[in-house]
Amino acid sequence: MRGSDEADIVVLKANTAAAALGCLAAACTPETVSPTGLADAGLIFSNDCASCHASDRTGDHGPDIRPASLTDYSQTSLAAFLGDHKTAKKLTAEQRAILAEWLKR
Ligand code: HEC
Repeated sequence: MRGSDEADIVVLKANTAAAALGCLAAACTPETVSPTGLADAGLIFSNDCASCHASDRTGDHGPDIRPASLTDYSQTSLAAFLGDHKTAKKLTAEQRAILAEWLKR
């Protein structure tokens, strides 16, 4: 139970149910992003997503992905989508979960 205890703590700190599902869907190795990671989401987005979606998320090569454009997605389905999307694939499950929460705000 050690591993899942640790995952629970990370989930609580990241304050996201999607993180828990990310851990189910893929190997849960939360090592790169700090558990207080919502702040890091902006940085990940700038590095890995803004080139196609624009830094204000209004879209360029990729579509507008501001919250109003993502109403078809739950935070969970968004994290799942990112699991098979462009540069998001190289992120950890935890990073994708955090990014999904951040994108919905
Ligand atoms: C190389 C360009 C590129 C990069 C990098 C990229 N995207 Fe995308 N993204 C696209 C394109 C093109 C689409 C539309 C086609 C598709 O769904 O794949 C898209 C679609 C999406 C959608 C779905 C939008 C909708 O309305 O269904 C989301 C959410 C999204 N991207 C998020 C991200 C995030 C978060 C990152 C960074 C981790 C990222 N993308 C990186 C090009 C990119």
